[in-house]
Amino acid sequence: MANIPLPKPILIWLRGESRSIRHRFGTLPMEWLQYGLYRLTGRSWIDFYKNRLDGFATDSIDSRPPSQRYLDLAEGHLNYLKQHGLHPESRMLDYGCGILRLGLLAIPYLSSGTYVGLDISAGRLERGRQLLRKAGIKDDQYELHEVNDCSLKEIAEHQFDFVWAKSVFTHMPTADIEFMLRSLKPRLAAGGQFYFTFSQSDTPLRKTIKDFYFPVDMMRETCEMQGYEFSVQNDWDAKAQGDVMVRLRHLTHGDRASSGARS
Ligand SMILES: C[S@@+](CC[C@H](N)C(=O)[O-])C[C@H]1O[C@@H](n2cnc3c(N)ncnc32)[C@H](O)[C@@H]1O
Repeated sequence: MANIPLPKPILIWLRGESRSIRHRFGTLPMEWLQYGLYRLTGRSWIDFYKNRLDGFATDSIDSRPPSQRYLDLAEGHLNYLKQHGLHPESRMLDYGCGILRLGLLAIPYLSSGTYVGLDISAGRLERGRQLLRKAGIKDDQYELHEVNDCSLKEIAEHQFDFVWAKSVFTHMPTADIEFMLRSLKPRLAAGGQFYFTFSQSDTPLRKTIKDFYFPVDMMRETCEMQGYEFSVQNDWDAKAQGDVMVRLRHLTHGDRASSGARS
């Protein structure tokens, strides 16, 4: 196909959301087939997705290091949290922490042991551990958990002042988001704040196999149904960042009385 000269608009159309003809007509249908088999055998989206991510994760951080640009973005994430009150004594959960690019900066900033990271991909967590060791951060300065579902049972002993989930709901179906929100409620300390990003669209969409898009009102309803106060953060440049930032807090009694009113 690559050798047949096609007009650019046709090439773009053929590439579709995948931005690649090979991915769209080869890899993607195979992934849907594999995912269908997972579902037929009683396994979940998380089972499928973690297996997919572990397949991409290489053993050594040195053999395929993350780009410096990707790592540098975490500085903005930490500053954002600080602007919203994160301080060295805060207890923080990095939900879907991936290769720990935020941990690299947040762990030295926070008091030892107050950073907890959690992810479905053992491969990504291992890469993160290696990244931290290379930076001189010791394993006992933080806590990590590999999870298989959204029950948060691994952190049942904890409460958090700040919860952060950057580009994680982006890869979760609604049922998993609802389960996570339900599980998080007792883990969010009084006065605690949960910041997460999601990809916005006019109608609910699933692009390729792993990218989930939601209308703001749908995300609001999902969060409010679980009893949170929901606010879209205008100090996050959604256009430049490509995603929407939301803050959730526990509803107070006053909020509960007026929860019909939208902010
Ligand atoms: C795009 S990466 C973002 C990683 C990290 N938040 C960051 O900003 O560097 C998404 C991460 O979410 C994790 N993830 C996806 N679904 C998850 C779930 N249901 N629970 C926990 N982690 C999940 C993936 O394994 C992946 O590491």
